[in-house]
Parts: sequence; C-alpha cells; structure tokens
Amino acid sequence: MSEREVKNLEAIFDARIERDERIEPKDWMPEKYRQTHIRQISQHAHSEIVGMLPEGNWITRAPSLRRKAALLAKVQDEAGHGLYLYSACETLGITREEMYEQLHSGKAKYSSIFNYPTITWADIGAIGWLVDGAAIINQVALCNTSYGPYARAMVRICKEESFHQRQGYEIMLTLSRGTEEQKAMAQDALNRWWWPSLMMFGPRDEASTHTAQSMKWKLKRKTNDELRQQFIDQTVPQADILGLSVPDPDLKFNPETGHYDFGEIDWKEFWQVVKGHGPCNKERMEARVGAWERGAWVRDAAMAHAEKNKNKTMAKAG
Ligand SMILES: [Fe+2]
Ligand SMILES: [Fe+2]
Repeated sequence: MSEREVKNLEAIFDARIERDERIEPKDWMPEKYRQTHIRQISQHAHSEIVGMLPEGNWITRAPSLRRKAALLAKVQDEAGHGLYLYSACETLGITREEMYEQLHSGKAKYSSIFNYPTITWADIGAIGWLVDGAAIINQVALCNTSYGPYARAMVRICKEESFHQRQGYEIMLTLSRGTEEQKAMAQDALNRWWWPSLMMFGPRDEASTHTAQSMKWKLKRKTNDELRQQFIDQTVPQADILGLSVPDPDLKFNPETGHYDFGEIDWKEFWQVVKGHGPCNKERMEARVGAWERGAWVRDAAMAHAEKNKNKTMAKAG
C-alpha cells in the first residue's frame, strides 16, 4: 500500500471515530490503534484474573454461608470478566497463549492494586467498596469506547461491578455498626486501601504518557485526574455514612470548586509497585504461573478429547 493510500485510510478511520462509529475486528485500523488496544485490553484481562487471588484467599474463611456465597459469585464474575476481555483482545490478532506468556514472563502489566495483601475480613469489604468502586468509574467510560468488542464486553462487566461494589459496602456497613473491634477492623482496612485505590487512576495527567492519544481514540474520555476526583467526591460521603475517617489530613470539601481537595499521593510507592516491588507482586505471579503449570493436564485432556471427537465426526462423514 502506498503512503498516500494509508493516509487516505487513516483519514476515513479518524472520521469514523469522530462520528462515534464503532470499529469492528475486520475493519482497517492503524497499527498503533491495534497495538494500543492489545496492550490495554490484555492488561485489563490480566487484572481481572490476578484480581481473583487476594479475594479468593478469603473464600474458605468467609464469616457466614451468605458471605461465602456472595464472595464466590464475585470471584467467579472476575474470571468471567477476564474471559470476555481475552476474547475481545483475540479479535485484534493476538492469541490467548501469547497473552498468558506475556503475563507469566512479567512482560505484561496488571493493575498494581492486586499486589497488596488481604489481611483481615474487612479487606474484602474495602476491596469491593473502594477497588471495585474505582474500577467502575474507570470502566463506565469504556462502554462507549470506539473498539466494538471491548465496548460490548464492558457493558456486561459494569453491571456486575456494581454488584461487587454493593456487596463490599454492605460488609463495611455491617462491620462499622458492629463491635468496637469490628469497627476498628473496618477503619484499618480503609486506612490501608484508600491510597492504593486513588493510585488505580494512574499517574497525574502531566506524567501520563498515553492520555493524549487515548483521548483521541475515545479509549479514554476523561483524564486520570478527572476520574480520581470523581471517585473521591463520590466516596468520601460514603465513608461519612460508615462513620469511618478517610486517612488524609488534607482532605477537605472546597465550596468554591464543589470538589474535595486532597493530599499528595505517594508516587514513589506507586512506581515501586508498578515496577514489581509491591508487597505481593512475587506471590501473585507465583500463584498464576503455578496454576498454569498445574493445569497443563486439563488443557492436554481437553485437546485430546476434542481431537477424538473430530476424528469420530470425520469417520461418520466419510
Ligand atoms: Fe471485574
Ligand atoms: Fe469486580
């Protein structure tokens, strides 16, 4: 294809994005658009799968049958989210095996929030309330993103995320209205999860390398800082209802802007965890790689079964 033809296709493509048209797998797309989407969607898929680990850790220790059923359902939902997203990503021309390989070798990233430990039952409440709450804010915008398979996967994911957020908040509500110890446990979980949750929106706008291009492709509709502010404005009143205090001495409602002002995020910690030095990075990767290796016989058996069935159908057809 000549340079001129490519320019032409690019112009048509940009106009489609401008008109809010969906881009589908077989449509022409710039290589950079394809690569950016592979990176973001696979990273998102990995986050869903690795995100099962900190919570899965509490399934056997949930305090009641009702809590256990809800937590099991939530963790299963996350597996489903991973599957929708891996499938959406495969439509861009990368295989599932390649994506797993990138995760297991440490080449691909996943959300840093899952590199923090879940120490008490209240952490399950705080994760649902804060982590799933932050995820919803990040993800609602993606329901209208330009790449069709990603946008459609996100519609379903967002519906399930709102159940996750509520079940977490309900755990926090129960604990904060319980005994002194339970309330202290809820406060401690909020103390530990608050700042990492704010980091989920990524670096400050001026330090974010992908924002401008992602905004152009409508892969992002609001900047990291705008989304973070929205999360804080929405979450602080919820903490008030719980009677818990947000661990930020600089947090204060600003009547002039109509938003909460807040303290500085520890960016040193943020980059440390991103670079693989968080409290649980190593443990999470060992769990994933271990599951992949221990599950090899299941994949082999499924392939052998499929092969046998294929031969049977072929014999019948012959
Ligand atoms: Fe999810
Ligand atoms: Fe979730």
